[in-house]
Formats: sequence, C-alpha cells, structure tokens
Amino acid sequence: MEKKNIDWSNIGFGYMKTDKRYVSLYKDGKWDGGTLTEDDKITISECAGVLQYAQTIFEGLKAYTTEDGRIVTFRPDMNASRMADSARRLEMPVFPEDRFVEAVAMTVKANAAYVPPYGSGATLYLRPYMFGSNPVIGVKPADEYQFRVFCTPVGPYFKGGAKPITIKVSDFDRAAPHGTGHIKAGLNYAMSLHAIVTAHEEGYDENMYLDPATRTKVEETGGANFLFITKDNKVVTPKSDSILPSITRRSLVHVAKEYLGLEVEEREVLFDEVKDFAECGLCGTAAVISPVGKIVDHGKEICFPSGMEDMGPVTKKLYETLTGIQMGKIEAPKGWLKEIM
Ligand code: PLP
Ligand code: COI
Repeated sequence: MEKKNIDWSNIGFGYMKTDKRYVSLYKDGKWDGGTLTEDDKITISECAGVLQYAQTIFEGLKAYTTEDGRIVTFRPDMNASRMADSARRLEMPVFPEDRFVEAVAMTVKANAAYVPPYGSGATLYLRPYMFGSNPVIGVKPADEYQFRVFCTPVGPYFKGGAKPITIKVSDFDRAAPHGTGHIKAGLNYAMSLHAIVTAHEEGYDENMYLDPATRTKVEETGGANFLFITKDNKVVTPKSDSILPSITRRSLVHVAKEYLGLEVEEREVLFDEVKDFAECGLCGTAAVISPVGKIVDHGKEICFPSGMEDMGPVTKKLYETLTGIQMGKIEAPKGWLKEIM
C-alpha cells in the first residue's frame, strides 16, 4: 500500500481529513450494523441533544507503525471500556465494547495510507465519539445516537515536542466534586476553553487544575494526567475521583514497576509537595509524556531540577520504554498491542 505524500516529520497536532470514517446509528433501542463512509459531513436536527444539552462523549487512541512494518493500536479495549463508562454517566446507550475495537480496526485499515511510517515521529490519532442526534427540548437524554470513528495523522501535541513546557496553576476548575471529571465528556473540554485561552494569552502552555473542593491537591491538566518523580526516583501520580483515568498513566505505572523496577505511589498529591519533586511530566495519548520544566502559581515559580532544556532522566526512561512498546521495539505485555495489518 502506498503512503500519502505527507511531510510526516513536520505535522503538528491538527485535523487532516482522511479517506474513510466509521458510522453506526442507534434508533428504536438498537445499534445498526455500522459502515465505513467517505462522507465527512453530518446532518442532524437543529434541536439535537448534542447541540442543546452537550450530550456527547469521545475517546482518543493511536495507531502506530512498528519497527517491523506492522500497524498496531495500543490497548483499544481500555478505550472501549472507558467510553462505556462515559456513556452510562451521560445516560447514553453503550456501544458494545467488542464492536468499538472492531470499528477502530476498520477505520485504521481503511486509512492505512495515512498511518505515519515508523521513525517519522508522527502517529495516526483515532477519535471515536458518540452524540445524541434527535430533537430534545425538555432536558432529557436523546433517543437516537451516532457512534463514529475518524482518524487523522498527528505530530506532537505541544509545539517543540520533547522540550519542557511551562504550566500555570489555574484559578478555574475543570470538574466539580461528584461531577463528570472522570469521564471523557465533551462538556469537560468546553469548561476548560476559557482557562486554556487565558493561559495561552499569558504565555503558558497548559493549566494545572487543583481539586475543586479544597484547592490544595493536584488534579490534572485539560488533556493529560500528571506524573512526578521524587529525588529518590519514585514515581508519584495523583489519585482523584474527578480526573480522567488515563490509559497512558495506567500503562506507565505498569512500565515503571515491571520494566524499570521503580517504586510507584498512586495517591493524593498536595500542591505544597510539588516544589520538592525532581521531575514532572504530563501523560496522555496526545501528550505521550511531555516534560514540565516550570509551574507558576500566581507569580511564584517552581522550577524542576530537570530544567527547561531536556526531559528529566527518569521521565526519559519511562518515555523510551512506553514508546518502545508501542512501536514494537520492546516486548509488550500480553494484550497491549492489537495488530491491524
Ligand atoms: N486527562 C484528560 C482530561 C484527557 O483528556 C486525557 C486524554 O485522553 C488524559 C487525561 C489522558 O488519557 P489517556 O492516557 O487515556 O489518553
Ligand atoms: C487525548 O490525549 O487523546 C485527548 O483526548 C486529549 C485531548 C486534549 C487532545
């Protein structure tokens, strides 16, 4: 199969229309058989549940070309399961988890020419999503839904790739206690738009959100979980009911313990402790592991000893091991890579 003529090494994290996308419709209490389509446009009622009451959820995962030329996705079953959790929380019908994995595979296969080559630094980002499509005017769940998957080749989420970023401690919250912070609902991201635009205007790359109840504990950013490394090389990652359970973070916890022999603490992390860590990074599908060099709390700077030039040494080992597994250079734990072709 011939690849598209794309300057793979210089693409950013943006949308590029690819050839095919997957669509399945839910009506009269059941999902149809689903199909691939070339049509990238959607026509729905002006009163659709998604447009009026933001009844929409999504997922994000990637397809990779391995060193030996296969195309694989990374733990798609985990995304299927998280999307099912998101659907239940927003009173949407669950798209069956095995069909989710199959729809992802079909979308990747149909767009194989867009899967970036091994070593290019780019990957194919997959975006499964679901929304209420029929008219809803009283506040209630829709009766009809669309489940879709599109894909787009992407480069690094943060400009500069592996260069450490600067983060602002936000005055806004992205989630409420007992709210929807733990699911991947579009509304969480709408909530974060003013905060991210404000942070960017002030020269920061991202926001650190604190726990909405007490504002003393570290939560996450708008699109990634935090990882910290202590001065004695322990990995510490915040535990909270209002953050998204990142698949990258859960994978890194395993990698740290089982591949690198590091001690890992998943626990509440007080903001007051952050100044004592040696390294900090953001982890997620889009972010992979993006090093954080500096956190600014209302003018007070926390500068990590790892500096603003390079990833810290432990973060780097985690990054290399995880991406090595994803690209087939390091043996993956059983079930982590799903071979597409
Ligand atoms: N936190 C938020 C708010 C996110 O949007 C994401 C991205 O999906 C993550 C964390 C990282 O999750 P994952 O590693 O499953 O991509
Ligand atoms: C992902 O990492 O897949 C996300 O959904 C994060 C988003 C901010 C791009």
